[in-house]
Amino acid sequence: MSIRTLDDLLAEGVSGRRVLVRADLNVPLDKQTGDITDDGRIRAVLPTLSALTGAGAKVVVCSHLGRPKGAPDPQFSLGPVAGRLGELLGTRVHFATDTVGDAARSTVDALADGEVALLENLRFNAGETSKDDAERGAFADQLAAFGDAYVDDAFGAVHRKHASVHDVPARLPHVAGRLVLREVEVLSRLTGEPERPYVVVLGGSKVSDKLAVIEALLPTVDRLLIGGGMCFTFLKAQGHEVGSSLLEEEMVETCRNLLERSEGKIMLPVDVVAADAFAPDAAHDTVPADGIPSKRVGLDIGPETVAGFAAALKGARTIFWNGPMGVFEMPAFAHGTRGIAETIAKADAFTVVGGGDSAAAVRALGLDESSFGHISTGGGASLEYLEGKTLPGIAALEN
Ligand code: 3PG
Ligand code: MG
Repeated sequence: MSIRTLDDLLAEGVSGRRVLVRADLNVPLDKQTGDITDDGRIRAVLPTLSALTGAGAKVVVCSHLGRPKGAPDPQFSLGPVAGRLGELLGTRVHFATDTVGDAARSTVDALADGEVALLENLRFNAGETSKDDAERGAFADQLAAFGDAYVDDAFGAVHRKHASVHDVPARLPHVAGRLVLREVEVLSRLTGEPERPYVVVLGGSKVSDKLAVIEALLPTVDRLLIGGGMCFTFLKAQGHEVGSSLLEEEMVETCRNLLERSEGKIMLPVDVVAADAFAPDAAHDTVPADGIPSKRVGLDIGPETVAGFAAALKGARTIFWNGPMGVFEMPAFAHGTRGIAETIAKADAFTVVGGGDSAAAVRALGLDESSFGHISTGGGASLEYLEGKTLPGIAALEN
């Protein structure tokens, strides 16, 4: 891979130079209070930022948060993130209340060597996500004006053809940050020659999101364990009724086809926790996967499934896990995710956790992050990497 790295940039010397860093500070926020519920993505970018400030660069950080529609929307302000970033860095972070306007310009102009600025949410500007090259390019011009060099450390966004990811690097000397490098290094171990048995655990709500990765992984993996909301479409494809569980009716045929071609590699739940309603205090019990009552909704995999999945994971030498097994945010439906996470944490294998939700689950359940080989900051990005797709953000660094 012919990508220049942060070390190459540091070797050139960055003292007094303005370095524009694209980070993925898209952290989950509490719906009521707006508090940051998991700061993993902020912590993940600290090594790159500290290296730059330590070398005397004027560091200009930019990121998206959530999916605002190309105009300012206070609920998606990066203001609170600036505060948390400053605490973690142990230095004040100068927050610009716009992205490329007057506030941003004066904030960047006022930076002293070794100081950090954070621009307001990139997606408050329609140019960031525009499908129109010229519109994206015009926004990229404005962003690029804030840097003498560009560092991409936003692994979670490298699969997006967005101005800050895809177009800015065409305008500035560009390198990959520490996080992007580490992520690519780890994931390439999975696409290369993973040590076997190689077992993948997939969860999360939608089959349609995971279809391409299932297709790509089937020939490579030894076992593919499927839980989470997406398992119900597979159970339906096996001919079972799933009550009012999450179901993608239009995907049933595709799932049936996948099951037929999977040579028995796909393992589905044998029992599920079925509830009266989608609520933390809903009445619930464990039922066989082929006997979900018609008015019930499946919100977790059952204990027999956890045991079966654990048996399949035992002895694995490489494990990739993406997507919770149930609604882990509600304690009553967190047992499946916890069981699988604990099994993976104990496995004598190279283990990779991919995806914002699974990474957040690991931390929310109080598990020790260091018992996993790698916790990826990218959800969609890690899946598209495993699919073998060209990632616009990585391709832009290669040029
Ligand atoms: C993510 O959360 O997956 C990344 O931050 C990318 O966000 P997006 O899916 O809104 O582009
Ligand atoms: Mg996403």
